[in-house]
Amino acid sequence: MSHHLVEAKDVHYSYSDGTQAMCGVSFRITHGESVAVVGANGAGKSTLLQHLSGCLLPGGGTVRIGDTLLTRKTLAIVRRTVGMVFQDPDDQLFMPTVWADVAFGPINLGLPADQVRSRVEHALETVGMSHVAGRPPYRLSGGEKRAVSIATVLSMDPSILVMDEPTSNLDPRARRRLIELLGTFTHTKIIATHDLDMAMELCGRTIVLSQGRIAADGPTADILRDESILAPCGLEKPLSLQGCPICSRQKR
Ligand SMILES: Nc1ncnc2c1ncn2[C@@H]1O[C@H](COP(=O)(O)OP(=O)(O)OP(=O)(O)O)[C@@H](O)[C@H]1O
Ligand SMILES: [Mg+2]
Repeated sequence: MSHHLVEAKDVHYSYSDGTQAMCGVSFRITHGESVAVVGANGAGKSTLLQHLSGCLLPGGGTVRIGDTLLTRKTLAIVRRTVGMVFQDPDDQLFMPTVWADVAFGPINLGLPADQVRSRVEHALETVGMSHVAGRPPYRLSGGEKRAVSIATVLSMDPSILVMDEPTSNLDPRARRRLIELLGTFTHTKIIATHDLDMAMELCGRTIVLSQGRIAADGPTADILRDESILAPCGLEKPLSLQGCPICSRQKR
């Protein structure tokens, strides 16, 4: 399905203070792929994801979502196709109640009230947050905010899901529930994360960013095993691939 392609070609981006955050990033993600974007703090993961959802426009190069070239004029089309969960939930939640935040997108799509209600109920139930529907988002815990911000995107039923650190702040059960939920999402997923064990579980492909450039792009199982790729990029093997610390201490 070409309309779900995500393509970056030689993307460059500098912030207004001159920080060069993208230095020629290119890749092509096809429909149904599940891709982890990993890299040290400041590598450019969030900057890249914001380009894929039309929050930032490239300073050089191009981003294409399906047949649509991302430009100021096509922002509305791209934002309807791509659902983005931001790294900081406070960037996502701005309405007086959780319910209003999750309903905001569907209302803006022009859906009738009964459909808005069922989408909101379903999205909140999916992330286990139905019980906070009437509360102001700014009064929630970090993990609750994270779960609600995911619900605001699920309620839009996006074709492409772009998530920036979706498991940060989640307790182990909520993290497990999210991983299972994402496993059922059959469309394209692009997930920036430091949770390399989640990347191992969910993402067949991994892109490693380092200083605004792609340092590696390939099968997750190969990349996250390869210390010669991970170490120079400030990364370590996921815990699931490291030996058991107790057993290795006993062997010494
Ligand atoms: N608003 C901004 N203004 C100026 N520089 C910025 C801004 N946001 C990010 N940067 C810089 O751009 C580079 C990439 O930052 P980015 O947030 O994309 O990294 P990241 O890989 O998401 O890091 P983290 O793992 O900490 O979330 C960094 O050098 C960062 O300092
Ligand atoms: Mg980030």
